[in-house]
Amino acid sequence: MIRAYKTSDLAQSANLLVDTFIQEPWKEEWTEELAKTRIEEFMSGPMSIGYVYEENGEIIGVMCGRQSTYLYGKEYFIDEFFISPSQQGRGIGTKMINYAKNDLQQQGFVNIVLNTEKGYPSETFYKKNNFKVKESLIFMYLDF
Ligand SMILES: CC(C)(COP(=O)(O)OP(=O)(O)OC[C@H]1O[C@@H](n2cnc3c(N)ncnc32)[C@H](O)[C@@H]1OP(=O)(O)O)[C@@H](O)C(=O)NCCC(=O)NCCS
Repeated sequence: MIRAYKTSDLAQSANLLVDTFIQEPWKEEWTEELAKTRIEEFMSGPMSIGYVYEENGEIIGVMCGRQSTYLYGKEYFIDEFFISPSQQGRGIGTKMINYAKNDLQQQGFVNIVLNTEKGYPSETFYKKNNFKVKESLIFMYLDF
């Protein structure tokens, strides 16, 4: 079942983030506390929108994001998206994208945008789900 994210999903979602991103190729060492903080930051705002995939009461997929308004309409920016490592490749991610797309379209959104790591399996996943690469944009940062 796919449904909207609720604040009570935080602990399970954080646990899943830790378990997912420790895997190849990400190999990120998140603690439960840090994962909770990150998810809460994304999901506690007035424009936050998220979805979870639940099976027998267990959360196995989480999508965190938020609404932002641009000139041509409302965008949904995906901040985090992860499926339990043991459940990846079963079509759950695709179902969640399709669910979010339908739900957001009904609310008047015009697109979904996100960043992901070039060359990672997620790039292939998004391309299979009809996402395009915006060649005119570059990702920039300033380290302190
Ligand atoms: C990327 C991710 C959300 C896709 O969800 P999913 O449920 O595994 O994807 P689906 O089963 O719907 O689609 C499978 C396709 O996605 C791609 N894919 C990406 N990661 C994969 C993985 N770990 N296992 C299998 N397929 C993967 C493949 O191209 C696959 O196509 P194929 O089955 O024809 O080979 C999920 O694999 C995941 O959480 N990965 C780790 C975290 C991550 O990369 N998140 C996105 C960061 S922006």
